[in-house]
Order: sequence, then structure tokens, then C-alpha cells
Amino acid sequence: MKIVHISDIHVAERHFLPDLLGRVIRDINRIEPEIVVVTGDLTENGFQSEFKRAQQYIEQIECKVKVVIPGNHDARNVGYLGFEEIFGHRSIIEKYKGITIAGIDSTQPDLDDGHVGREKYGWIEKCLDTDDFKVVALHHHLIPVPKTGREKQIPMDAGDVLELLVRCGTDLVLCGHRHVPWIWNLNGMIITNAGTACTTRLKWDIPQSFNLIEIDEEEKGTIKIYRMYSKGGQELVLEKRRD
Ligand SMILES: [Fe+2]
Ligand SMILES: [Fe+2]
Repeated sequence: MKIVHISDIHVAERHFLPDLLGRVIRDINRIEPEIVVVTGDLTENGFQSEFKRAQQYIEQIECKVKVVIPGNHDARNVGYLGFEEIFGHRSIIEKYKGITIAGIDSTQPDLDDGHVGREKYGWIEKCLDTDDFKVVALHHHLIPVPKTGREKQIPMDAGDVLELLVRCGTDLVLCGHRHVPWIWNLNGMIITNAGTACTTRLKWDIPQSFNLIEIDEEEKGTIKIYRMYSKGGQELVLEKRRD
């Protein structure tokens, strides 16, 4: 099972690199993943024209299941209404061949700060009540990411959300927002941050990238994560057996 995780494409902002996103999409289609997860910041300002352009790009990605959730930039200028119109619910659950993915909206209108919110905890718990390989996706980072400077905008309820996800036996968490790729292993739960796939909004010399996750069901859910550099090249950054 191959899952591709991309984030922070920021289509239509002045730092957006359309040719690079075209290349990333061609690479993803060559990989032939079953599932693609896009963890938010599709736009810069949540404008309708930006969403429509982002939609055109996302439609070019070929896969069985797409999970798209909003980021803080998409929640600007009531962009969350446009998001719902184009991509559907801001928090969603998808199931495919032994994988359950809960996509959680961690945004608030016109604020950059993350917030999951207690009202979603019951729903999250229900989604994760399964023997499947459990994936949770949200835009904001649940744990600080190195080389991102001053810590900010982490979900205000990150501690409670982490406890909930660990208690529910979550295998993998996918985040974006800080534009820097990183992996934490917390109490057996892998937390993977994706970099920006195709913008010049980089932290110094950390290049654009996305994640390729391979789950080997025969090998009891052995998980491999590759950091795929948008301009070419890849790196195996994690190999772990499911606990
Ligand atoms: Fe972003
Ligand atoms: Fe963001």
C-alpha cells in the first residue's frame, strides 16, 4: 500500500512554483499510490480563484482515494466555505483496504493558530475504533519541528489531542504547516511533517519535498517513509514494524 502525503502547495501565491508542482504531480502519478493525502494550505488567501486553481492541480493526481483537508491559509476570507463547496467536509474519514484515515480540520477562520477542539474528540475516537492501520491527518504540527525558529501556532489543545491519538492506537499522524519535513516517534505513534511541495517559502536550505509512505500488510504493517525531494532524489527516513 502506497500513500503519498503532500502539503502546503500554496497555489496562486507569489512564492508558488507551478512548474515544480507539475513535476511533483507527474512523479506522484508515476509512483501510483492508492491514497494521496493533502494536508492543507492549498491557497494563500482562501480566494475562490485560488481554490479553483488548486482544484485543477489536485484533479490531475491519479489515485483511488484522496483526502484533502484545509490549512490556516484556506480559512482566510471565509475560504472554508469554498473549501466545503469544492472538496466537501473539512473533517472526513476514509477507509480503504485495511487503512482508516481521519482527516481533521485544525483551522479557525482568519487565525493562523491551530485548534482541533473538544467537540471533535468523540468523532475522532469513533473513527479510530478499528483494527485497521490508523492514520490521522491535520494541517497544524502536533509537536514542534526543528529548524523552524520560534515555536508558534501549534494546536492550542495539542496535549489533549496527542493523548487521545495515542490512546486510540493511532499508527501514523500526517501534518504540514511549518514547511519543514520531520519525523517524531511518540509512544509508538509516528508523527510525520511534510515540507512545502512547491513554493519558495523555505526555511533556509531545506528543499521542497513530499512524503511517500509504504505499508507492507504481509509484514504486519511494516512502515517505510521516504522523503521525496520535489526537484528529484529521495531518502528513506523511517522503517518501523507496527507495534
Ligand atoms: Fe503553509
Ligand atoms: Fe499553514
